[in-house]
Amino acid sequence: MLIKLSDGRSLPIELHRIKIVQKTELQPIDLRFKKIIEAGCNTFILKSRDVFIDMLTDSGTNAMSDNQLAAMMVADDAYAGSESFFKLQSAIKDVLGFKLVLPVHQGRAAEHLISRVLIKPGDTVIMNYHFTTSKVHVLFAGGMVEELCIDEALNTESIHPFKGNMDIEKLKNSIKNHGREKIAFIRMEATTNLLGGQPFSMDNLKKVKKIAEINKIPLVIDGSLIAENAILIKRREKGFEKKSVETIIHEIMSLADIFYFSGRKSSSSRGGAIATNNKELFDRMAPFLPVFEGFFTYGGMSSKEMEAMAVGIREMADDDVAGTVLDFVQFFVNRCVEEKIPVVTPAGGLACHVDAKKFLSHVPQSEYPAGALAAAMFLVSGVRGMERGTISMERDKDGREVMADIELLRLAVPRRVFTASHIEFAVDRLKWLIKNRHLVHGLKFFEEPPVLRFFVGKLKPVDDWMERLVIKFKKDFGEDA
Ligand SMILES: Cc1ncc(COP(=O)(O)O)c(C=O)c1O
Repeated sequence: MLIKLSDGRSLPIELHRIKIVQKTELQPIDLRFKKIIEAGCNTFILKSRDVFIDMLTDSGTNAMSDNQLAAMMVADDAYAGSESFFKLQSAIKDVLGFKLVLPVHQGRAAEHLISRVLIKPGDTVIMNYHFTTSKVHVLFAGGMVEELCIDEALNTESIHPFKGNMDIEKLKNSIKNHGREKIAFIRMEATTNLLGGQPFSMDNLKKVKKIAEINKIPLVIDGSLIAENAILIKRREKGFEKKSVETIIHEIMSLADIFYFSGRKSSSSRGGAIATNNKELFDRMAPFLPVFEGFFTYGGMSSKEMEAMAVGIREMADDDVAGTVLDFVQFFVNRCVEEKIPVVTPAGGLACHVDAKKFLSHVPQSEYPAGALAAAMFLVSGVRGMERGTISMERDKDGREVMADIELLRLAVPRRVFTASHIEFAVDRLKWLIKNRHLVHGLKFFEEPPVLRFFVGKLKPVDDWMERLVIKFKKDFGEDA
């Protein structure tokens, strides 16, 4: 809930008590400098113990509820026929409306199975926008990805309420050009991660579904943040103001042929699932589950994780759970806008996204402005964010760099983990950084893996800009800050 203060400001307020905490430490800047250089300027390589405020991701980092922890205590560890699986299955049936469920170890495992079964070499998968792992699985299955987001989606300043919408005209043309038999499926991501957590509208999803149905193309929804998308529909789309989040989720799901999700993002610390009511599609995917994941009643998850996920799925339909994250993201974005820090607007799900192309307009895209900003942010604050720009892209088949449409530093807000003062601190350090942005220069690779290079690739500064940034920081904040 965003609560109004007596001076007119809004404050995001936690609708829970914090009962278990984990200690963190803000190391001095000299140590942070050593650590980020050792980590190849890649925030993924930093050790958690060296991070002060971990905004890398909301995947597997959310705080669990007391009811989730309690459920884990009664898990049934049977290899086959585990009671914990049946609880998960009934939560998916009740909240999402699907009878057939394939549990997997995490979201990308669902992407693997779906891609393996639905894609023939040379096929195209149409998406509102790609996610890193979803794209790689399409490519590995011999397919191609076509992104048909609306034009406003790539304008970080646009305040279009549904930047996750698919462009309907482009969709019709694409089907005409490829031929419907060459399109394996249409994938709609609920709050598009790489566009800054932006939702699609119900109206748009219905139009996409209609076209998919006419052309007999399966509609696949990646619903890793389905509750957030549903709440944003409730808050932004005419006619949905009075509907419950649960009803909106059901309405979205009634349009999906296949639904899959990463449970790590919302409902548990690990796991995911594919769910459908289409028996034919289910029967094509199911035989691969024991081959790549595990038996049908655990599929790569522990029984404790299935218990936590079953409760988490029921809790996510509660506006106070996912809604509180949205309020914190909104607060984060509003504060950045007030301080003239360029961020993706309007506020979406999962994170505040800083527009690194605007923030560091003097750094060429070939020198990875979003990666440089992520490294600089850690250096001056101990806050760990994630690069979501060109480093997160794959090279083309001739080895050429593919520039990202937008360069973002993602500062994630995991559920129930941080308070408003954590966010204020992050905003303050961004404010200092933007004043001193001329000191930040680019990065270059010295170790580059062939796939998903953003995870473990190593880079170094193009010159001694980090040393100069440290000197200026110490001048302003003191030796040990
Ligand atoms: C939209 C989306 N789809 C798929 C995935 C992959 O899920 P996982 O990390 O559980 O493999 C993610 C992970 O962040 C995601 O955000």
